[in-house]
Amino acid sequence: MSLATLPQTTLSVTDASIEDMAAIQQIYAHHVLYGPASFEEAPPTLEEMQQRRNNVLAAGLPWLVAKMEERVVGYCYATTYRPRPAYRYTIEDSVYVAEGMQGHGIGKALLGALITRCEDGPWRQMLAMIGDAAGNVGSLALHRKLGFTSIGTLSGVGFKFGGWLDTHIMQRPLSDGNHSLP
Ligand SMILES: CC(C)(COP(=O)(O)OP(=O)(O)OC[C@H]1O[C@@H](n2cnc3c(N)ncnc32)[C@H](O)[C@@H]1OP(=O)(O)O)[C@@H](O)C(=O)NCCC(=O)NCCS
Repeated sequence: MSLATLPQTTLSVTDASIEDMAAIQQIYAHHVLYGPASFEEAPPTLEEMQQRRNNVLAAGLPWLVAKMEERVVGYCYATTYRPRPAYRYTIEDSVYVAEGMQGHGIGKALLGALITRCEDGPWRQMLAMIGDAAGNVGSLALHRKLGFTSIGTLSGVGFKFGGWLDTHIMQRPLSDGNHSLP
């Protein structure tokens, strides 16, 4: 199905609520169990996912959900990149679309909204750590379309499903990037 076949008017992207987390946990569990993009191997519980959302919100960062006709079809959020203080203007994105709903513009709507929201805050760089660099053409394309550039590949840093996995790093400035002081 092409992008044009999906009724885009029904897609909404908003802040995720606590009630959305059960569906979000199920979307992520599928990707953990069957996909190489996440380097987790056991799906986090609903309680763990709620705690992760709480941590994101406590850092002042957004956790967004995409819905079509009230059905949760994807989500994304930003996290701080590293805890040491000099990294405080650098964040990392995560974006997952429900199995069967990929390739319809949902990831682009989510990540675009996340970038806009983060540009309202103090952050100046967004990183993407793309697991399974060789096989994840969708994530590479999504990030490239939204202004990320390739930084490089960490070879064989993951081992899942009986094989080595690379991570590809991409980066996008937010707002004025490093062209002005925070
Ligand atoms: C990666 C992912 C979030 C992308 O979301 P999506 O809804 O499938 O992507 P979209 O339909 O919004 O596509 C965004 C752009 O990338 C392109 N694209 C998407 N999938 C593609 C593919 N497999 N091959 C080539 N281009 C692709 C689209 O054409 C689109 O560009 P356009 O708007 O100019 O046409 C989604 O596929 C997913 O959940 N994958 C599994 C988990 C994952 O890898 N998450 C990312 C972790 S870093």
